[in-house]
Amino acid sequence: MEWPEPIVRVQSISESGTTVIPKQYIKPPSRRPSLQSFESDHVSIKIPTIDLSEDMDYSSIVTSMSEACREWGFFHLANHGVSPVLLKKIRSVWKEFFYLPMDEKNKYANNPVTYEGYGSRLGVMKGANLDWGDYFHLNFLPVSLQDQSKWPSLPSSCRDTIEEYGREVAKVYSKLMRVISKSLELEEDDLWRALGGSEFTATMRVNFYPKCPQPDLTLGFSTHSDPGSLTILLPDDHVKGLQIRKDGSWLTVDSIPDVFVVNIADQIQVLTNNTYKSVEHRVLVNAEEERMSLAFFCNPKCDLMIEPMKRFVSEDQLAMYSPMTYQEYRMFVREKGPQGKSQLESLKSFGPRSTTSVDVDLAENA
Ligand code: OGA
Ligand code: NI
Repeated sequence: MEWPEPIVRVQSISESGTTVIPKQYIKPPSRRPSLQSFESDHVSIKIPTIDLSEDMDYSSIVTSMSEACREWGFFHLANHGVSPVLLKKIRSVWKEFFYLPMDEKNKYANNPVTYEGYGSRLGVMKGANLDWGDYFHLNFLPVSLQDQSKWPSLPSSCRDTIEEYGREVAKVYSKLMRVISKSLELEEDDLWRALGGSEFTATMRVNFYPKCPQPDLTLGFSTHSDPGSLTILLPDDHVKGLQIRKDGSWLTVDSIPDVFVVNIADQIQVLTNNTYKSVEHRVLVNAEEERMSLAFFCNPKCDLMIEPMKRFVSEDQLAMYSPMTYQEYRMFVREKGPQGKSQLESLKSFGPRSTTSVDVDLAENA
């Protein structure tokens, strides 16, 4: 399978110096960012912060986690144990990669079968509207799918740094799963086990959003929820752009140095039968500065059936989702690109329809 039309690197369009973006990147008016987002006094919101330092009282961490996941589905993670030096190093190797000549980067051009490598679109629909961003996607776990020859060989420290960073962030995932499990009043290992335990899978996606001459007409990443279990994002160290949808409004997430942004993804919504929900988010671009972020996607073991856990199912609260493996689930976004939460909605089994905000959200993304 190949891409349906020739791939154009957004970075090349940006560097051409054009003042007008190509039509394919212009969003329909209802999906464009609001103009306020670009005003100089635009304020970003503070999402909750979970502090994992050793000296924090564990039960208070669990309580904050429960509030953050129920209320927001997104939180900042401070004192996560990954050293600031490593964060700086991983940012710098990826910046260097994106600054390499196009011929060098194109050696890693990806295809829609595995998505692994250097890419510029999500989805294979011909003529689809596109997002203002390039990326590099790679498989990290399981180790059997890790192929370092597909990772950038330049800069020379790239592969080692990716490996070290991935290993450290995977540890953060296992710590978080225990806290999240507790916060749902489950046993510490329940959620971890329901996602495949140590056989969980992980991919890394480095997003590079070049400067855009008409940022009010497009998005760096259209509205979506993440398909997997949990996303641990290292945002840009100073350029904002991530927005989350809360109670129908788009809010810009503030950025705090060296702190991760973590969000609940679709599979946790399925397992908890809507107790914790994945939240829609999108990315704005801007005319003055490029932006780079590193998403570490923690996903279930690929061939494991994921369905609502017994603890969240009762006579009053029937299972809302039919079982499906993650392998099957992720085909949707790979084919159709970011589509809000429409996939999760389409998975809802018969029985009581949810009356949550998910239904309201859908209208705009239909
Ligand atoms: C993603 C994503 C947000 C960002 O990669 O899924 O939502 O800030 N990224 O780049
Ligand atoms: Ni995302």
